[in-house]
Amino acid sequence: MHKQKSKFVCSQCGYESAQWLGRCPMCEQFNTFVEELIVRQDRRSERERAKAAGGGAQPIVSTDLKGFSMHRLVSGLSEWDRVLGGGIVPGSGLIVGGEPGVGKSTLLTQVTAHLAERGFKCLFVTGEESAEQVALRLERLGAILPGLWVLEERDCVAIGQCIGEMRPEVAVVDSIQSTYHPLLTSSAGSVGQVRESAGHLIRVSKDQGTALLLVGHVTKEGFLAGPKVLEHIVDGVLYLEGEETAPLRLLRATKNRFGPTGEVGLFQMTEQGLKDVLEPVDWLIGARGSLRRGSAVALILEGRRPLLVEVQALVASNYSGVVRRVATGVDLGRVLMLIAVLERHLHCSLRGRDVYVNVAGGLRIREPACDLPVAMAILSSLSDRPLPDHTVFFGEIGLAGEVRPVSQPALRVKEAKRLGFDRCIGPEGGERERGWIGVPSLEKAAQMFRLLDAGRHLKKRGN
Ligand code: TYD
Ligand code: MG
Repeated sequence: MHKQKSKFVCSQCGYESAQWLGRCPMCEQFNTFVEELIVRQDRRSERERAKAAGGGAQPIVSTDLKGFSMHRLVSGLSEWDRVLGGGIVPGSGLIVGGEPGVGKSTLLTQVTAHLAERGFKCLFVTGEESAEQVALRLERLGAILPGLWVLEERDCVAIGQCIGEMRPEVAVVDSIQSTYHPLLTSSAGSVGQVRESAGHLIRVSKDQGTALLLVGHVTKEGFLAGPKVLEHIVDGVLYLEGEETAPLRLLRATKNRFGPTGEVGLFQMTEQGLKDVLEPVDWLIGARGSLRRGSAVALILEGRRPLLVEVQALVASNYSGVVRRVATGVDLGRVLMLIAVLERHLHCSLRGRDVYVNVAGGLRIREPACDLPVAMAILSSLSDRPLPDHTVFFGEIGLAGEVRPVSQPALRVKEAKRLGFDRCIGPEGGERERGWIGVPSLEKAAQMFRLLDAGRHLKKRGN
């Protein structure tokens, strides 16, 4: 008789069933069943089995742990190495997530090519593209190298076997959504398949000491589609972000067991693949020198890296009756809050006007320190007055219109000054010693640049 190899488990309450069920009979939730392998015994890694055979677990005295200092696979792609905290740790498992088309395959092709050039054996497994398509990219990126191998395969057991025989230092699987475990019945890309095949590949790679890089697609909502469940079984999660239409790409480590999290690397997408961007200021600030009306330079922090970014706002009369508030690169909820603060505490008239906010370079800012610059850009557009040159803003804005402190002001200000932006406007506290101008409230900042009277003036005229 055919022995069943998989079962379906409710991800909410753990109820088990031989078939997939739309609704769990136990907790009555819909669409919660995920396929899992039954053969648990064989799933333990060789190391675990050896340990079990050898009796009790062996602790290590902490003084012996000192010599374990981490050896790393340095690629020479400086931004990549930096985000990882110095390079890939041998035998570690990483997810590289990002929206389709952002450049994940390009990045990992370059990483493996750089490593192969330095004498590491690398395997690039493709489940999405044919080997020919990968070859085309390799040629384009000048990555045809004896140390770089390509495998076109989707069956994770077959991929695991190849890793076991070849024992490469680094294996890339592009992507985890395209691979499947042959013993599961659900289709590739389903949560059960992604979890089982990733689990299998990670176990095999750890046994071989191979570092595994799994490509994961991210949906528009920003989550790794399905493999959110993977984040805890890997050692690091990297996200590649950016707008397909703009050349700038941001690589962010949201989890890293072997290095700092929140570290950010900047790349530029070119004809020859991704290039390190070491001085991003020219990318992020449209016209250095004279700013246009509605533009403000924000002094933000991405990871531990201060960045100067131009924020643009446009306040326009609305004739349709339904006002539009559009935010690109910043959170729309945050912009709506700032509009409410401007109306309530600064008496600006934004009713009946459209407000558009845009961040240059295709960057997405999540930091609240961007509140003050966004509000200043809106005020500048509303009052039709440009902000002065060489001036940057940073600070969170509270609901009462107060400017609140943000992390690492001194680090930000130092970077702004290095780039010639010598007037920094930020929150109060420590400003005197560190050389920025502290403002208690948005209103004070607006007065400082004479943006308020003009804004109110418009209100009086009633447009
Ligand atoms: P890709 O790496 O395939 O994205 P992902 O794997 O995340 O889906 O590449 C995305 C885009 O990058 C694609 O539209 C082509 C472009 N591209 C370049 O501009 N330069 C290059 O050298 C390469 C290889 C790709
Ligand atoms: Mg791809």
